[in-house]
Amino acid sequence: MKYWKRIKIDYEEEIRKKSLELITKHSNILDRSQFKGSFINMPPEFVKFNTAIDHALEPYGRVCVKAGIYLMWNNLDAIPHIDDQEAVARVNIPLLNCEGTSTIFYDNVQTKTLLLPTGASYHAVVNTDYHEVDRVEINSPTILRISAPHSIVMNEARAPRLTLTLTLTPDISDLLDYD
Ligand SMILES: [Fe+2]
Repeated sequence: MKYWKRIKIDYEEEIRKKSLELITKHSNILDRSQFKGSFINMPPEFVKFNTAIDHALEPYGRVCVKAGIYLMWNNLDAIPHIDDQEAVARVNIPLLNCEGTSTIFYDNVQTKTLLLPTGASYHAVVNTDYHEVDRVEINSPTILRISAPHSIVMNEARAPRLTLTLTLTPDISDLLDYD
């Protein structure tokens, strides 16, 4: 089973630029005093105004049904977890300070479902005897198997770390195992 795969995304720079513009000029997401949790579901307008997202996904026959932001200020913001169960895999695009950071995958986990104050739910790993099985640096668009347990280790001297995470239909997990 593959946990991640690089993916070529047309309009990558345009998507990054527009996403950062929407986040910095039209939200208070980067105001640390307003931080309520690392996974932030964006409103439908975010995808609507970020028209390059669906253009970029056309060659893959996918449509973006939901965009989220993953925001970290320190390493406690991404302890081992499984994302909510809506998707098997998602496309992640680096936005800020992702260089030198690692998304780490694990096996042998037990989880407990928790609800973040942002409204997003996730499944936190509650045991400690899990094992690392793979890791990847999100330095370019990457499909991640977010239905497998994972954590993120960032460089805390360079905060915040920010990624755009796209939920697609049909689910993009089939491309993980397709060479
Ligand atoms: Fe996650």
